[in-house]
Amino acid sequence: MSVVIANIGSLVTNDPSLGSGLLGEINTAAIVLDEGRVAWVGDSSAAPAADEQIDAGGHAVIPGFVDSHAHLLFAGDRAKEFDARMRGEKYTAGGINETVAATRAASDHDLETNMLSLVGEMTRSGITTWETKSGYGLTPEHEARALAIASRHTSETTFLGAHVVPKEYADDSDGYVSLILEKMLGAVSPSAKWIDVFCDRGAFDVDQARAILLAGISQGMQPRLHANQLANIGAVQLAVELGCASADHCTHLDSSDIDALAGSATVATLLPGAEFSTRAAYPDARRLFDAGVPVALATDCNPGSSFTTSMPFCIALAIREMNFTPEQALWAATMGGAQALRRSDVGTLSPGSRADLVVLNAPSYLHLGYRPGVDIIHSVMKAGSISYKGIA
Ligand code: NIG
Ligand code: FE
Repeated sequence: MSVVIANIGSLVTNDPSLGSGLLGEINTAAIVLDEGRVAWVGDSSAAPAADEQIDAGGHAVIPGFVDSHAHLLFAGDRAKEFDARMRGEKYTAGGINETVAATRAASDHDLETNMLSLVGEMTRSGITTWETKSGYGLTPEHEARALAIASRHTSETTFLGAHVVPKEYADDSDGYVSLILEKMLGAVSPSAKWIDVFCDRGAFDVDQARAILLAGISQGMQPRLHANQLANIGAVQLAVELGCASADHCTHLDSSDIDALAGSATVATLLPGAEFSTRAAYPDARRLFDAGVPVALATDCNPGSSFTTSMPFCIALAIREMNFTPEQALWAATMGGAQALRRSDVGTLSPGSRADLVVLNAPSYLHLGYRPGVDIIHSVMKAGSISYKGIA
């Protein structure tokens, strides 16, 4: 059945050939959806007839957000750690082990329920495509069960067994790397599309990360990398060397990192929720834009460094604290995320793409940053079906 949404105040297509600017914006627009796909976009007055008609009441319509970086498979929270940080303590990778203990103790049902509750929050914030990593189990069995749960709900599953060295291997990080190479990769490969490593101070060094990523690639997983969050130990350079789809965090970047990213197919994924929640200095995205590096924005939802599921919050932070323009921030949270996941079917509203869209309680996408902290999501459609309808 086809549906036309007419009387859209501003429609963001992310296809510059369909409208104005980077976002391909069309004013007074309509969009036709058919069989879960976009069939037509253009001026409202020229819209073809459809089986059903929806009046958007002059609201803005944007592509659904693509959250390319989240950690949703865990139990418990670390609110006390947040409190300590806000009293002056520093964030370290070691806190991950607190969540590992709680996650190992949780039942499959509780892990899945917690993940789906966070996904519900994401949907209500306008996210229609989401990735999740494992990384709080850190045994072959616990990592495999986490990814099996995730793969029932998303195709974007990432094995992050190399998140931190677990307590039982505290004095033998190479022993833990061997466990990953010899046992974990085989256990998770049926349900992991991607492989990731936290390559940073207090986690895994560049040589360990290279060995793990190469082994994952040889088992059919595609690489992405947590890079340069706490320090610059050369992780962005490794991401480029291995052709990672994305180098994530990029909090500490020098000019050789930016040059390397600029000459590569690796997207720089920025995670402003992490700088916010760890009270770290924000990276300046203008340096990346000036060099022509594609940039994604993601929530990094996790219980330690960024416990948010709100893409509008991340967009507002990116604009205010990272020097994104509102246009760049929306692009990064939609097309940027799609590129970071190497997806061409989402992140845009051009004919043929998946009908994932958000109606805003506002006449323009500019209100995402202009009205921070306000419930700006009116309704959300995924593959042409309504998955959330908020207040008008
Ligand atoms: O992306 N940096 C590594 N992993 C997460 C934090 C995990 C945690 O603190 O529990 C991140 O920020
Ligand atoms: Fe992360």
